[in-house]
Amino acid sequence: MTNYLYAGDALDACQNLPTSVRFDLVYIDPPYGVGTTMTMREKEGERRGRQTVGSGAAAYDDKLGGGDLVEMLLPRLAGIRDRMTECAAFILHLDHRAVHEAKVGADKVFGKGAFAGEIIWAPGNGSRGARGFAVTHQTLLVYSRSAKDKPNLTYNADDPELREPYADTSLSMHFKNVDENGRKYRERVINGKAYRYYADGGRRMGSVWTDISAMVANTPLRKEGTGYPTQKPERLMERIVKAFSLPDGKVADLMCGSGTTLIAAARLGRSFVGADKSAKALEIAQKRLISAGFSFDLLAPSRGDNARAPH
Ligand SMILES: C[S@@+](CC[C@H](N)C(=O)[O-])C[C@H]1O[C@@H](n2cnc3c(N)ncnc32)[C@H](O)[C@@H]1O
Repeated sequence: MTNYLYAGDALDACQNLPTSVRFDLVYIDPPYGVGTTMTMREKEGERRGRQTVGSGAAAYDDKLGGGDLVEMLLPRLAGIRDRMTECAAFILHLDHRAVHEAKVGADKVFGKGAFAGEIIWAPGNGSRGARGFAVTHQTLLVYSRSAKDKPNLTYNADDPELREPYADTSLSMHFKNVDENGRKYRERVINGKAYRYYADGGRRMGSVWTDISAMVANTPLRKEGTGYPTQKPERLMERIVKAFSLPDGKVADLMCGSGTTLIAAARLGRSFVGADKSAKALEIAQKRLISAGFSFDLLAPSRGDNARAPH
């Protein structure tokens, strides 16, 4: 299956990709409404993140506040929705600054009944915010293509990456049986049918994820750090890809930044579609994919398209 990297706006990508391209999982990690330009670290000593003295080159603008950011996102979400398959999940990663307005907006695009829940991710960055309690989490909203499609949503609950250990109290109270191989289990009868649960199989992972540190992606000391601002950890993206897509699926990230989602998808045998309107993002994502041995067709808006040039 062909991989694509589109040099341009997410909306143009939805309009201009080959018509046969459909998304089985879409993740986007847009600007968060920080109110500044975000910069890269390309050389030693340069500062990455909010633009300030000593910053590296500009990577992308994050200047739109809550309402305007959501206004910008909505037509792109609609374009994405129209390319989703019936089993596809759409995941929108934001933080406290814009996630609540974005939820209201996304409900309008997909339908309130298409909302399939949210993941709270604690990147472990230390404190954020000058007053009150420190903001230590981000939010990932999960939608199906429509309310009607929600029962079809792919979710691989049995993947080991999506299991977590039972609580000690639950293990000691409920897992009292031992099978012929020495494995502890409990049995529950639900609607007249008996189900066996093994202690070593763990329980379904909950919606609060505290076990994946952002640090690996944000320091030049670790191999996966590219210097791109707000780069997400590969492990986070691998968990999302494993959770919400099948091995032959097509994974899209149309605001792909340094290409973390695309790398995770390709490593897990999925094909991918990336897009970004930042020339710096595309440069990094291309280098990263090529050095990992993954090939792709690079597409750019042609003159006749309703193109928004990469900045
Ligand atoms: C938070 S960063 C993504 C970081 C990425 N998840 C990573 O791991 O590197 C947001 C990205 O959205 C891109 N972006 C913002 N608006 C866009 C649009 N309308 N179309 C395509 N990309 C856009 C920016 O250029 C930036 O690279």
